[in-house]
Amino acid sequence: MQLIQAVSLLSFAALSLAFPNGAPRCKITESIISAGHKIPQGSLGLVMQLPASYTPGGPAIPITVTAANGTAVSFQGMLAYLTPNPVQDSSLTAVPVGTPNVPFAGGAPQHVGTFTNIAAQNLRPQTAAICSNQNVTNDNAASTITHAQPLTGQTPFTVMWTPPAANVGPVTVNMVISSGSSRTPWQIIPSGLIQSTAGPGNPNASAPSSATVTTAATAATASTTAATTTTTTTKGRKGRKAKKAKKAKTA
Ligand SMILES: *[C@@H]1O[C@H](CO)[C@@H](O)[C@H](O)[C@H]1NC(C)=O
Ligand SMILES: *[C@@H]1O[C@H](CO)[C@@H](O)[C@H](O)[C@H]1NC(C)=O
Ligand SMILES: *[C@@H]1O[C@H](CO)[C@@H](O)[C@H](O)[C@H]1NC(C)=O
Repeated sequence: MQLIQAVSLLSFAALSLAFPNGAPRCKITESIISAGHKIPQGSLGLVMQLPASYTPGGPAIPITVTAANGTAVSFQGMLAYLTPNPVQDSSLTAVPVGTPNVPFAGGAPQHVGTFTNIAAQNLRPQTAAICSNQNVTNDNAASTITHAQPLTGQTPFTVMWTPPAANVGPVTVNMVISSGSSRTPWQIIPSGLIQSTAGPGNPNASAPSSATVTTAATAATASTTAATTTTTTTKGRKGRKAKKAKKAKTA
């Protein structure tokens, strides 16, 4: 028993990333990441390269993270999502939920569109329960993505994002990149805005019906069961809350 524990601890350490099978959160919150990584945010010199616009119901578009000075940056971890809101989500998650006169205080409630073809890049949909615990509604299982295992990512790095069928107006790309284990540099990349070719739109237009939410949640649970070591947190609504609370302290 003790030997097994020691071995699994060793292999965990060897993986080096604090959360080797994905970020434990559905929103990017600087204070929480700082605590989890035991190091304040530092710049990796990363920026986004984005198309000017998307077409509702149209083709997937590339979202690229690259180093501002062109030097390749290697990284292991990622959390990314788009919000139908022209504000970087980490500036909203820095404000407590319910703060008066701050729309979306605590972070935008909806993540829109779908990242496409992510398994080939060792990325996966964020676990549905992690998102619902933070009051996030995903349009699709892969509206919010994270690493399925420590990445051997190197910039420039491109993920493809398929817009929602409904026009949700301008969308903000939110992304945090971690270079490696605890106490290694990480950066919330300055967000970028992508306009809609169909104009301002209704930011709520893509909100899925509750039936869709349930389907997406089931799909996400099934697709992550094999890949994640935290499957117990996706099962059963009861034990989950306590575990989440415990996890949040170490996140
Ligand atoms: C590029 O930027 C990174 C991060 O700021 C820095 O560490 C690196 O030295 C820079 N490289 C050059 C060639 O300026
Ligand atoms: C989720 O929503 C409930 C009900 O509005 C609220 O009490 C709770 O604080 C919210 N939790 C988070 C993490 O936003
Ligand atoms: C979108 O939904 C929010 C929350 O339900 C609401 O306050 C807001 O007025 C809605 N916006 C539009 C344009 O319908």
